[in-house]
Amino acid sequence: MTNTIRIGVIGAGSISEMHLQSYKKNPHAELVAVCDLNEERAQAKAGKHGIPHAYTDYEALLADPEIDAVSICTWNDSHAAISIAALQAGKHVLCEKPLCRTVEEALQVERAVRHSGKTLQVGFVRRYSANTRIVKEMADHGEFGDIYYAKASCIRKLGNPGGWFSDIERSGGGPLIDVGVHVIDLCWYLMGRPKVKSISGNAYKKLGNRANVRNLAYYKSSDYNAERNTVEDMANALIRFENGASLFVDVSFTLHAKADELTVKLYGEKGGVELEPELTFVTEKYDTILNMIPQINNRSFDFTAGFQDEIDFFVDVCNGVKPTLSPVEDGVEMMKMLCGIYESAATGEEIRF
Ligand SMILES: NC(=O)c1ccc[n+]([C@@H]2O[C@H](COP(=O)([O-])OP(=O)(O)OC[C@H]3O[C@@H](n4cnc5c(N)ncnc54)[C@H](O)[C@@H]3O)[C@@H](O)[C@H]2O)c1
Repeated sequence: MTNTIRIGVIGAGSISEMHLQSYKKNPHAELVAVCDLNEERAQAKAGKHGIPHAYTDYEALLADPEIDAVSICTWNDSHAAISIAALQAGKHVLCEKPLCRTVEEALQVERAVRHSGKTLQVGFVRRYSANTRIVKEMADHGEFGDIYYAKASCIRKLGNPGGWFSDIERSGGGPLIDVGVHVIDLCWYLMGRPKVKSISGNAYKKLGNRANVRNLAYYKSSDYNAERNTVEDMANALIRFENGASLFVDVSFTLHAKADELTVKLYGEKGGVELEPELTFVTEKYDTILNMIPQINNRSFDFTAGFQDEIDFFVDVCNGVKPTLSPVEDGVEMMKMLCGIYESAATGEEIRF
């Protein structure tokens, strides 16, 4: 039987809008509460979406026994504490990426999931998008053979969002933990989640937030403030896996680059695939190399549809219809990779697991 899942959304900033709109469109979800430290923001979201309860304290929201599940859309520094409190209150959790800021926090969340018997879905939204599902199905059927190399870039020439994003206390890091997490996860997931063997990473703080730049617009956080900037502005890493495969990634909030760049490419023994910027398959048939272009609605990541797919999946998970595609264990592995990159960058040494 499909029940109506009653939802609370904690954190009412930019990304919460995607969660709220997607829950509203899901026939088996009902939005009952929203919470933000900023009371005006919580009230505004409640008013806009017709949500009956608005809170400023997440503990008060979690105390409502009517709520079955929560989305956590707060700054990264509260992801672990709110996830653990929600699980202990008997709620399923959809926690925005990154799962948290450190491996220690991730392991605490993982323990809370085990004790609670509830599900925590990590907000690796790109796993849920149509294009990733197409590639995953092919990879699982061996279309690419053994995937032994992957390469991902998420380069912003100018795009330090400021505010909490660039305050390491609240974010845990800069572009690596913010946007690198998406592309590293995509590659790792499609490679079949191999075990990490070693990591060599570099992080640079050379350009600052470049709030001085004029005549070029870019995304800024809800509470934009350029004063504090304690995160890297660029990072890169080479991750080696136990099965011999490797992944190279580079990411930036700002870089003297000609243009922004988003690429996700995987190379296997039987074929290759570019997931971004446009889904394209590469293979060889009868001694000829083919670039194959699928006939699909959108050959890149569709933000709105991706969130709808993620939320629809989560509501099904809450109803016990299927297991999540992005369990807490994968969030823990991702924190090991991200923190491994930062540690390697800080020590100037390769990290071995
Ligand atoms: N999946 C994606 O593509 C994607 C995109 C953007 C952001 N995110 C993630 O979503 C989260 C929020 O990002 P955002 O861009 O919406 O930031 P934001 O600054 O716009 O909103 C965050 C909100 O959380 C509130 N908040 C912080 N701590 C709180 C607490 N303890 N209790 C209640 N409210 C609290 C803040 O007041 C703010 O309104 C981050 O973890 C970010 O990494 C994910």
